[in-house]
Amino acid sequence: MLGFLVLLLALALGPQVVLSKFLSITFSSTEQCGPLNVTFSQGTMPSASPLSLTVVPFNSVPIFIPIPSSSWDDHTSTGAYITFLPLPAGATFIASLDDGAGNSMGAISDVIRVQSSNNTSCLPATPSQPADFFAIGGGISQCEPFKLQWNSSVTSQPPTIRAFIPKGPSFHVQQLPGGGNGQASYVLNASRGKEIAFLIDDGQGNKQDLDLFTIGGDTSSSTKCLLNNGTHGKQRPTNRNLSK
Ligand SMILES: *[C@@H]1O[C@H](CO)[C@@H](O)[C@H](O)[C@H]1NC(C)=O
Ligand SMILES: *[C@@H]1O[C@H](CO)[C@@H](O)[C@H](O)[C@H]1NC(C)=O
Ligand SMILES: *[C@@H]1O[C@H](CO)[C@@H](O)[C@H](O)[C@H]1NC(C)=O
Ligand SMILES: *[C@@H]1O[C@H](CO)[C@@H](O)[C@H](O)[C@H]1NC(C)=O
Ligand SMILES: *[C@@H]1O[C@H](CO)[C@@H](O)[C@H](O)[C@H]1NC(C)=O
Ligand SMILES: *[C@@H]1O[C@H](CO)[C@@H](O)[C@H](O)[C@H]1NC(C)=O
Repeated sequence: MLGFLVLLLALALGPQVVLSKFLSITFSSTEQCGPLNVTFSQGTMPSASPLSLTVVPFNSVPIFIPIPSSSWDDHTSTGAYITFLPLPAGATFIASLDDGAGNSMGAISDVIRVQSSNNTSCLPATPSQPADFFAIGGGISQCEPFKLQWNSSVTSQPPTIRAFIPKGPSFHVQQLPGGGNGQASYVLNASRGKEIAFLIDDGQGNKQDLDLFTIGGDTSSSTKCLLNNGTHGKQRPTNRNLSK
């Protein structure tokens, strides 16, 4: 037990690992046309710059906001940025702080609901229709292939799908070979029961966010697509090892 405490102390006082991620990223609540406050710390600025904010309003189109490097304070090693989103009261979204290569700098936000206000100055004159370029027939389950369909006269290439787990990671969903001509198959390597959002992008200007959904499956679902599934897991010290 004493050895364990000494080890903990050594870990706490030991040299800090240089992180290319922020361990702390916070998003404020927001109201219609009001500010959204993003703060980040416990990490370093990425070599791929600039930072940006990817905002994924469900059942709508994504919003990308570049964050100037001046939002980072070298002396305090903290960053803060305030932006305004053109989203009406009641809209729900998640947001990701990304590096210049489009990878998340840490955990995705929780699901944020835009609260009501009397300020309408940020809203478009004609409310935008929900985007419906891409459609998925049926539910999506853990490690099961699913099919995405689109109007092949609008775009020919299979789009990329970026997945976001609220308060968790963001990653690209693997496309299976053989897509094209209005449809492609993908497999979602994430565990059943989790909520997840998709940002679909064909790289030709058509972008769409699906509604937040829950990953289907049950105890008989395949785990083949998941990392650390027990068969190929890396050897890692367990708590038992540490306390000896
Ligand atoms: C209304 O919102 C805009 C931007 O979203 C902001 O600049 C303006 O200060 C707000 N007006 C009031 C009265 O809060
Ligand atoms: C944004 O968040 C930071 C850290 O919590 C705080 O110091 C700052 O006052 C906030 N700014 C606004 C406009 O809410
Ligand atoms: C909008 O304005 C009205 C009248 O000024 C006020 O009673 C109401 O509380 C305001 N609503 C919000 C959400 O601020
Ligand atoms: C596909 O897109 C074309 C061009 O915008 C349009 O004319 C056609 O009606 C669309 N087809 C379907 C099935 O939506
Ligand atoms: C475990 O994951 C690895 C890597 O993804 C995969 O190759 C392997 O087939 C999986 N094994 C099982 C039993 O799911
Ligand atoms: C899914 O795949 C991505 C990269 O393709 C990886 O970053 C992520 O950890 C994987 N998730 C799981 C649960 O295996």
